[in-house]
Amino acid sequence: LVAALPRRQQSILELRLYQGFWLPEHWVPGTIVFQRRFSPRPDDVVLASYPKCGTTWLKALAFAVAARGAYLPASPAHPLRRLNPHDCIPFIDEIFAAGEHGKLELLPSPRLMNTHLPYTLLPEPVTTGGCRVVYVCRDPKDMVVSLWHFLRRAKPDLSFAETFEFVCDGTVAAGPVWDHVLSYWRASVARPDRVLFLKYEDMLCDGAGSVRRLAEFMGRPFSPAEEAAGDVAAVVELCSFDGMKGLEVNKPGAGGGTAGRYRPMPRDAFFRKGIAGDWANHMTPEMAARLDGIVREKLLGTGLAFT
Ligand code: A3P
Repeated sequence: LVAALPRRQQSILELRLYQGFWLPEHWVPGTIVFQRRFSPRPDDVVLASYPKCGTTWLKALAFAVAARGAYLPASPAHPLRRLNPHDCIPFIDEIFAAGEHGKLELLPSPRLMNTHLPYTLLPEPVTTGGCRVVYVCRDPKDMVVSLWHFLRRAKPDLSFAETFEFVCDGTVAAGPVWDHVLSYWRASVARPDRVLFLKYEDMLCDGAGSVRRLAEFMGRPFSPAEEAAGDVAAVVELCSFDGMKGLEVNKPGAGGGTAGRYRPMPRDAFFRKGIAGDWANHMTPEMAARLDGIVREKLLGTGLAFT
């Protein structure tokens, strides 16, 4: 089946077109197994994102929210002070690609897991059942910039122009990005109690509000006592870009490899600038207008916009 799917080369990845999305070739067999075999538990929380849109941050926040019973967010012993968020929450797509999905069965409830697959490729029991899905999206212009810096770690001669073109063309891992975002947007409109849709830029503007929303959605709202103790602010601080980037475990040379066997990345690769608007330092006004125009047209009439 995989060999019969349309194939494209995207800089460092071989892609296959599977059910309307360009997936890294090595994900496709695992995605099929995921779709057929995964059985969600009602208290599972699936963290979903397009690559480079805030996955690491969302993983940290969700982990900190869920771990409150065992670890106060301000605790010096908190796991997020010694582990990269990717080492705290398993990455479904790579786990299934490696044929190691039995590991997910062994996780205690409530499970936290993440995926870069679009909503339409999630197993039917996830999209119709009781488990929760949290999605984070980001201005595609900043995503392109972040993606380029990330991919350059593996392919230093990759040009920004080339990266920009394959994003505009849609032939990028898990792309087209607009279809990915729309798949979750539509699901969040149809099933707001099961799918939470977050924006990276909103999270930057209102960290505390975003943490409260996430906690409520996860069924773990902050109690008045936790509010009074400043635990919301402590989660924001624990998961802040500067705080996480400054940890020994996330510094260059700290070793480790996350994001899968195919393209392992050092942990520091997940912390670059952590801001909105860096696209202006990389794109010409014409490039920005072109990508904005494509995205605007694709999102027209959906109620979603990147402003
Ligand atoms: P930049 O490259 O623009 O800095 P992902 O986790 O999906 O791979 O996304 C990575 C992007 O999120 C990078 O963006 C990274 O710097 C940013 N990021 C990582 N941790 C963050 C945090 N705690 N707060 C805000 N941004 C964060």
